[in-house]
Amino acid sequence: MTALLRRVDDFEEGALRALRPDVAAFFAGGAGDEWTMAENRRAFDRWVLRPRVLRGVGEADPSTTVIGEPMPFPIAIAPTAFHRLAHPDGELATARAAAATGATMIVSTMSSVSLEDVAACGPPRWFQLYVHRDRELTADLVARAQAAGYTALVLTVDAPRLGRRERDEATGFELPPEVGMANVEHWLAPGTPGTSTRLSYFATQIDPNLTWDDVAWLRTLSPLPIVIKGVMTAEDATIAADAGVAALVVSNHGGRQLDGAGATLDALPEVVGAAAGRLDVLVDGGVRRGQHVLKALGLGAAAVLVGRAPLWGLAVDGEAGVRRVLEILRDEFVLAMSLAGVRSVGEIEPSMVSRAP
Ligand code: FNR
Repeated sequence: MTALLRRVDDFEEGALRALRPDVAAFFAGGAGDEWTMAENRRAFDRWVLRPRVLRGVGEADPSTTVIGEPMPFPIAIAPTAFHRLAHPDGELATARAAAATGATMIVSTMSSVSLEDVAACGPPRWFQLYVHRDRELTADLVARAQAAGYTALVLTVDAPRLGRRERDEATGFELPPEVGMANVEHWLAPGTPGTSTRLSYFATQIDPNLTWDDVAWLRTLSPLPIVIKGVMTAEDATIAADAGVAALVVSNHGGRQLDGAGATLDALPEVVGAAAGRLDVLVDGGVRRGQHVLKALGLGAAAVLVGRAPLWGLAVDGEAGVRRVLEILRDEFVLAMSLAGVRSVGEIEPSMVSRAP
């Protein structure tokens, strides 16, 4: 079924046709004017590759290492909420596709399948954490993730409050009754004030007052490496490096939080510069092609995350769709490596990318 779909954008078109209009808008949409969301994609057109030739590129090897973990290729699945909106198997399908391809899946606090059930599918896995006002609940999530074999905690820091998604306001989007917050619902007695809608859940349950002190607190909870997701500046990268975190994700939440923030690819060089090799830097936002991955790695990223792309695969064809999307991105990346004259991820260097003329 997916054989005719050759590009990630083909899966996007298919998904937007297949999904209920309000769910399609929830996945596709961003905050405000969606300027930042569009910028993430436009930024890839502002950087060009500088291919090298005659370098014996018969066998390009896309494998790499991120926070000390081997990855078969430098593309991981970004945490996104509520996969059961896209497909009845939800995160189970995504996890099986991750296991089949070897891609690391970052499972959202807001997953619609419990983190334990996702883990049972066997993907390489990190857990994305939203720190709740209820620190006992938060500590329990961390303990459960560790017990279920997650190998890193990804602390999302760009969402103290939910950005204003005007498409969701227009459609009146709310979760259907069969799709819930599987990781937290048992903590919240039915009818707990503020748990009836996503917006009010964020406003009442997620702690908007987080500071770097809370990162230090998080480090006391478990030995798992901490990845901070949502850093956009050299200033914060320097603080993060001093705080001893393992990695950063340069991210603006796919343009869903602060509209007007710059494109992540444009912010990447300053964050990489400030990190100065002290920690790995990943990036997400707008990645739809293998050549995008090459540009991001040329600008210093250790790996990229993809958020919407696997959701489009999931909506079109469940596990097989997610697998196909990951394979397309991987294969495009390997081809781009060869055509740019590199045989290994280690050979990708800053001189391979420059600002478009
Ligand atoms: C997200 N994102 C996100 N991030 C996070 O840390 N926790 C979450 O629960 C979610 N949920 C979520 C839902 C949906 C529908 C989308 C589209 C995004 C942000 C996500 O991790 C990532 O930063 C962006 O999706 C990357 O941009 P692209 O790849 O979608 O362009």
